[in-house]
Amino acid sequence: MERSHAVAAEKVSKTFILHNLRSRIPALRDVSFALPFGECLAVSGPSGAGKSTLLRCLYGNCLASSGSILVSHLGGILDVALASPREILALRERTVSYVSQFLRVIPRVSALEIVSAPLAKSGLAPGEAREKAAALLARLNIPSRLFALPPMTFSGGERQRVNIARGLVREAPIILLDEPTASLDRANRRIAVDLIVEAKGRGAAVVGIFHDREVQEALADHVLELPAVPCAEG
Ligand SMILES: Nc1ncnc2c1ncn2[C@@H]1O[C@H](COP(=O)(O)OP(=O)(O)O)[C@@H](O)[C@H]1O
Ligand SMILES: [Mg+2]
Repeated sequence: MERSHAVAAEKVSKTFILHNLRSRIPALRDVSFALPFGECLAVSGPSGAGKSTLLRCLYGNCLASSGSILVSHLGGILDVALASPREILALRERTVSYVSQFLRVIPRVSALEIVSAPLAKSGLAPGEAREKAAALLARLNIPSRLFALPPMTFSGGERQRVNIARGLVREAPIILLDEPTASLDRANRRIAVDLIVEAKGRGAAVVGIFHDREVQEALADHVLELPAVPCAEG
């Protein structure tokens, strides 16, 4: 992998094996790309093409069946497909941030805590972490009366904005986004796009799945088109 690259995937394949159903579900076949810092790769393709699976493989949430996923991490290079659980945790804490499609909410954990947690983890003083989190939530139009509440009762769009804030608050070198703007109205979509552009501007590499063309066109420097995957093999 070249020094300017943040992530390089080489012939990544993933087949889910469902033992109890005796079936194999091919999800990714020979996917390769290399992404420099400061640029955005949009992963595109029909539903079921393996877009989310690719992101989960990059985050170490899902183990590739073959191929390599090299990530620039703490001055070295880590192959996510071979990394130990401890290395995966360090990768998530220091290098890769992931905005999932849906925010998983935990009862009693407030929106402000959710967003400030990545900062507190990286060593920022709790007060400063909360201040930074609050500023980002405000920028994403989350009313301050909601900060102290768990997002259980929030609307879909509000939850997704909390999710975006959590993923972008920490200035991670690599950011993974799974349809981050799908449930946002136009004005908030615009704000989310601005935040992602700013992240690229400070050098972050972004791998994203974008719900609408407009967002993809505003952000993507490269497009990786995944083909529809053949049906499950029995
Ligand atoms: N944990 C899993 N176990 C079994 N099959 C899965 C799992 N996750 C995804 N798949 C299958 O892998 C394929 C790709 O899914 P996904 O990556 O979610 O597609 P996309 O995000 O492009 O819509 C689908 O056929 C899906 O059913
Ligand atoms: Mg998906």
